[in-house]
Amino acid sequence: MSLKNVRLEVMKFLEKDVESLIEKYLIPIEKIWQPTDFLPNSEGDTFFEEVREIRELSKELPYDFWVVLVGDMITEEALPTYESWLMDVEGVNQVDGENPWAKWVRHWTAEENRHGDVLNKYLYLSGRVNMREIEKTTQYLIADGFDIGTDRDPYKNFVYTSFQELATYISHNRVAKIAKKCGNKQLGKMCQIISGDEMRHHHAYSEFVERIFKVDPSQMMMAFYYMMKQKITMPAHFLRESGNKISTAFEEFSNTAQRIGVYTSTDYVDILQKLITRWEIDKVTNLTDEAEKAREYLMNLPARMHRLSERIKIPENSFQFKWVEPAIVK
Ligand SMILES: [Fe+2]
Ligand SMILES: [Fe+2]
Repeated sequence: MSLKNVRLEVMKFLEKDVESLIEKYLIPIEKIWQPTDFLPNSEGDTFFEEVREIRELSKELPYDFWVVLVGDMITEEALPTYESWLMDVEGVNQVDGENPWAKWVRHWTAEENRHGDVLNKYLYLSGRVNMREIEKTTQYLIADGFDIGTDRDPYKNFVYTSFQELATYISHNRVAKIAKKCGNKQLGKMCQIISGDEMRHHHAYSEFVERIFKVDPSQMMMAFYYMMKQKITMPAHFLRESGNKISTAFEEFSNTAQRIGVYTSTDYVDILQKLITRWEIDKVTNLTDEAEKAREYLMNLPARMHRLSERIKIPENSFQFKWVEPAIVK
């Protein structure tokens, strides 16, 4: 049987459990938080005062903080790209009947959609950012699409999402901590609750991988190996600020996140280590020779990457984005 057909069979085999995994990892719509829970109520009498408070508190947060919050929001707002990508993965099928994997993708998307929504509204009210420039970047990013090197392979895609959900957990959680430290409790709570969603999603995708390891260990190991060898590219790596396709915006956004400690190269290595531990890579049995070698490579990778990450130098000065007005450089 071809590798592709085995994958399709494995996806089919796991289908029966997807419904219960949706229940385990996602929250029913009637119970989950909504963006308006963290924003001024526009029907209420105190709306303007609440907005004024947001604008006052926003002045306390530094330039780099806004750049990171904007970049995080744009990454969330490119959700149409991620949903369409996942819908195209082998074994996911939104056309024929009630395919459980397609249901997972829809329900996951529905939860994710609230992240960009709440951040967008907050940024709009803050008065600290140039919304039109941000909107243009978002439109460019969705129009450009992405290539995360996973092909249509479910194994590679689930490695990617396991990694990425944990990365977004870390960055939203750190943004929350900075906001709280600067006296902005409301924004802190908002980013913390987003990070909670990301953590649940991370656990879900990690369980998908765990289950695949049980039935197709060698190919699952190879998929993990391929993804880590080529490195996990961030979903917003095609980010650009203007019409110019060749742009350093993503690099500068990453530098900014690293400079204020929201997401660093050490975090990348820590995530890799967490996945290795979670999937008990050292204990997987029934591997082919090729997969044994892949395992060895993976086991040695964190230490190797750690040494490399120590050498990375981040520019000290803020990069001037069009998204955030220079007047508030601190
Ligand atoms: Fe998200
Ligand atoms: Fe997520």
